[in-house]
Amino acid sequence: MIIVSGSDSQDLAYRVSKLTNSELLRTEFKKFPDGELYIRIHGDVKDKDVFLIQTQNNQNDSIVETILMCDALRDEGAKSINLVAPYLAYARQDKKFNDGEPISIRALAKLYSNLCDRVITINPHEVHIEAFFDIPFIYGNAVDKLAEYVKDKLNNPVVLSPDKGAIELAKTASEVLDCEYDYLEKTRISPTEIKIAPKNLDVKDKDVLIVDDIISTGGTMATAIGMLKEQGAIKVIASCVHPVLIGDALNKLYVGGADEVVGTDSFLSEVSKVSVDNIVADMIMNYNKA
Ligand code: R5P
Repeated sequence: MIIVSGSDSQDLAYRVSKLTNSELLRTEFKKFPDGELYIRIHGDVKDKDVFLIQTQNNQNDSIVETILMCDALRDEGAKSINLVAPYLAYARQDKKFNDGEPISIRALAKLYSNLCDRVITINPHEVHIEAFFDIPFIYGNAVDKLAEYVKDKLNNPVVLSPDKGAIELAKTASEVLDCEYDYLEKTRISPTEIKIAPKNLDVKDKDVLIVDDIISTGGTMATAIGMLKEQGAIKVIASCVHPVLIGDALNKLYVGGADEVVGTDSFLSEVSKVSVDNIVADMIMNYNKA
């Protein structure tokens, strides 16, 4: 078993190679002056099971790099190519929202199905995307790691998801924290005013953990945090698996009242405080046992 690192996951690839006791190969990455990518994988992959660890932090470049690396690995005779992309770019366009749009993750799933033998990810936005792949699509869950990270920072906690769709994430975290969970409901009070509050629970005098799969612009999360504080929450920690945090999102969350923002290194950011290394290593080891 061999570990190959993409440019976005060099540290994660090293840690996973240690945890799985596997060889990590040297890979060169360069960008030509016109923006095109150059990669070269050094070492022997012939007849080996290769795990390409390449999260997709830099969306378009990460995807092109993945394509080039898979092509090189196939050409060099890898027995199997297993793409480990903890953050899978374009996964949020998992259906047509308007006529004329592509189902972006379906288009990419077709591509990966031709290039690799297996795709491994963490908390995909919607698990139904599995159906778009013609190869095994395996996913892990990092929410319990997020909950373990914040466990000693919260007193008398409740866990909330930002919407009903993400309630399972809140449930998972609540099991680690041994507390109640709920989801946030948005109610329109007037054309210009909304209220965001837990559907069933009261947050007065509670510490709150909000869990989501992605924080992107942070807009809804920042509004929710401010309102939870108004409703009497003492401390609010905003957490997510993939801290995409576009532009000023992090600042928006802190100014909105977040006491801490926590994410994983599935998507590298200033708040990637929890590693998915053990989850990835376990998934790889399980594959190897099968
Ligand atoms: C939505 O369904 C996702 O789970 C996230 O809640 C969403 O992507 C977060 O986006 P933003 O940070 O831009 O509000």
